[in-house]
Amino acid sequence: MSAPSTAAVVAEAGLPDGGQLRILRVDASRAADVLRVVHAAFAARPPVDPPAAALSDTEQTIAEKLAGGFGVLGELDGEPAAALIVALDGDQATITRVAVHPDHQHRGIASALVLCAMDLLAARGTRTLGLGVRTEFPGLGRWWRRHGFVRVGERPPLELLQRSLPVLVEAPTADAMRDLGERLAGLLRPGDVIIATGDLGAGKTTLTQGIGAGLQVAGPVISPTFVLSRVHRSSTGGPALVHVDAYRLGSFDELEDLDLEASLADAVTLIEWGGGIAEGLADDRLEIDIRRGLDPDDETRLVFLAGVGPRWADGQLEELR
Ligand SMILES: Nc1ncnc2c1ncn2[C@@H]1O[C@H](COP(=O)(O)OP(=O)(O)O)[C@@H](O)[C@H]1O
Ligand SMILES: [Mg+2]
Repeated sequence: MSAPSTAAVVAEAGLPDGGQLRILRVDASRAADVLRVVHAAFAARPPVDPPAAALSDTEQTIAEKLAGGFGVLGELDGEPAAALIVALDGDQATITRVAVHPDHQHRGIASALVLCAMDLLAARGTRTLGLGVRTEFPGLGRWWRRHGFVRVGERPPLELLQRSLPVLVEAPTADAMRDLGERLAGLLRPGDVIIATGDLGAGKTTLTQGIGAGLQVAGPVISPTFVLSRVHRSSTGGPALVHVDAYRLGSFDELEDLDLEASLADAVTLIEWGGGIAEGLADDRLEIDIRRGLDPDDETRLVFLAGVGPRWADGQLEELR
C-alpha cells in the first residue's frame, strides 16, 4: 500500500526574474519546513510592539494551524523559500501567516502563493478570504489592496482586510462558455469593466460572444486582434459592449492611449488579456481568468470569476455557479 500523499504540487510558477517556483499544498507533516520560513521571515522584520505572534510559533503551533486548514509552500531548487497558512471556517477563510525567506523577497513569490491559495479556495467553494495586517507597516496594507483586498475593520494592532474569492465555473464546451457569458450579461450594468485573462485559445473571445448575445448588441463579436478595440452598440437601448484586445499592449500608457475612459461610464468594457496592465483602469472590476485543465484531451475550461471593489461586494457572482 502506498503512503498517503501529504503534499501535492499545485503549480509551477515562473517568476518575473526567471526563477522557477514549485508550489505545494501541504498539511501538518510539513510543519517544520513552514516554521523555518516563518521564523526567518519574521526575524528579519523591524520589531513591533506587541511582537508579531509568528515569532513565538513552534512546530506544534504551526502543525495545529495547518490542521485547521492548509498550507501553501513555495520551493526554489527543492528548498522551502516561502509559506502561507490558511484557516478554514465554513465558506470563509483567513490567512494566518505569510512568510517569504529574506533571501528571496521582492521576487513575486508572495503574490504567486496568494494567487494559488485563492485558486485552491475557489475550487472548494470558499467565498471570502480575510487577514489582519499590522498598521505599523502601511506598505503591507498597500500590497494587499493591490491584490483586491479592502479594509473591513480593525482589531488593534491589526487592520482587517478582506476580499471575495473567485467563483469557479466549469465550461465543458464552447457553447457552455457562451452560455456562461449570456448568464453573466444578466448581471452587468453600464460602467462595468471586465478583465479577461488566459492563454491564446483559452476562450476569452468565446465568452465575450456570449456576453454580447446577452446584452443584445450588434455583432459579430470576433477577436479584435487587428483593431485594438471595437464598439458593439446595443439594439435595445442597453449598454454598448466595448471589446478590447490588450495582448499587444506593452504598458498601461498604451492602454490609456485608447481613450477607453470616454466610453467607460456608459458601456460594458471587456479587455482581453489585460491582466497586470488594466487593473489601473478601474477600482471596481470583474477579473475573469480562464484556464485549461491538465488533461490535453479535455476541452473543459475552468473559469475563475473574481469581483474586485464595492460593485461586486454583494456576492451576486454566486448565481453563476
Ligand atoms: N470549453 C470551451 N470553452 C471555450 N472555447 C472552447 C471550449 N472548447 C473548445 N473551445 C474552442 O477554443 C477556441 C477558443 O478561442 P477564443 O475564444 O478565441 O480564445 P481566446 O480569445 O482566449 O484566445 C474556440 O475555437 C472555441 O470553439
Ligand atoms: Mg481572443
